Amino acid sequence: MSYKKVLLNEFGGPEVLQVIEEFNLPEPGVGEVRVKVLAASATFSDTMVRKGIYYGFKETPPLSPGYAMVGVVDKLGAGVNGIEVGQMVADLTVFGAYTEYMLRSADSLVFVPDDVDPAEAVSMVLSYVTAYQMLHRCVKVQSGQKILVHGAGGAVGTALLELGALLNLEMYGTASKAKHELIKRLGGTPIDYNSEDFLADMQTIGGVDAAFDAIGGENFKRSFKSLKKGGTLVAYGFYNQALGKGGNVPIEYMSVALWNMLPNGRGASFYSIGALRDKQPQWFKEDLTALFGLLADGKIKPSIEQRMKLEEAARAHELIEGAMVKGRIVLIVGEK
Ligand SMILES: NC(=O)c1ccc[n+]([C@@H]2O[C@H](COP(=O)([O-])OP(=O)(O)OC[C@H]3O[C@@H](n4cnc5c(N)ncnc54)[C@H](OP(=O)(O)O)[C@@H]3O)[C@@H](O)[C@H]2O)c1
Repeated sequence: MSYKKVLLNEFGGPEVLQVIEEFNLPEPGVGEVRVKVLAASATFSDTMVRKGIYYGFKETPPLSPGYAMVGVVDKLGAGVNGIEVGQMVADLTVFGAYTEYMLRSADSLVFVPDDVDPAEAVSMVLSYVTAYQMLHRCVKVQSGQKILVHGAGGAVGTALLELGALLNLEMYGTASKAKHELIKRLGGTPIDYNSEDFLADMQTIGGVDAAFDAIGGENFKRSFKSLKKGGTLVAYGFYNQALGKGGNVPIEYMSVALWNMLPNGRGASFYSIGALRDKQPQWFKEDLTALFGLLADGKIKPSIEQRMKLEEAARAHELIEGAMVKGRIVLIVGEK
């Protein structure tokens, strides 16, 4: 049986994403499962993989992007127990999820409740786990605390706001004007980074307990200065650098570590979903399962601006890199 996937033969712009047909389904080996993909998230991280600039990523073309997927188990390899054909599962794949069928190690899969929408479920895997772990594992935020969220109208930003609202946090979010209505709807106070000085705004309110920053460069420094005594900066990306707007990843990484060591009454750390999953694989499963619970109970509803087809992956990447997405895009790949 043939199936479709999005493949790149060289790193580059969105145009390198080609839809190709494979003529034989992949066969699961020992301990593996074949998954029929229902939904894959299209994210800024995927655009970095596509460009060959994703920090620490060692794979080379040909490859398919696709950092996260939700699908149904289609075939079990030898030695796989405790999973049945037809069950809905999720995984953080890092690459490879822009495809109708893929192989995964059975051990890495997380069960998805039957009644949740696959597009909403796949939104949990990368951006919501990132937000959840930064809030609960890195900072351990408490009800009523103040937080500053950069890129608050994007995939991780909206997840931070939605999860922060459940904790009754006082939330401030930087974004361009077009995303301010969404930020307000999610319970945040928007700050236009093009015309307002977020550091001055945060100093006016006495500083924040935590700042979440994936913009990088000068922004890290200013976020750190926005903290009140005892506050924490969580740096988790280099958005500007990825778009060629300057920055030096190793130096910025070391600066964050240095600020944490200096006796200034404030903390700073770097979060990486992949590094934390390698160190604490059980946390990833627990946290994703907790998020699926919140989704199934109707306590969260991810902002999905567009559901696009697998064939539209290149267009999805253009929209993401142009910051033209409120919330997130999900690629709808198959049906149950
Ligand atoms: N460490 C990890 O484990 C991890 C996990 C997931 C993602 N990330 C990283 O987190 C970053 C965001 O990912 P995402 O998926 O949320 O991306 P996204 O959906 O594209 O959101 C990024 C948002 O930032 C806004 N933005 C751009 N410049 C800004 C500035 N100077 N100040 C404030 N906001 C600005 C953009 O819209 P406007 O300009 O219109 O406001 C956009 O909405 C990326 O760098 C990604 O690589 C890291």
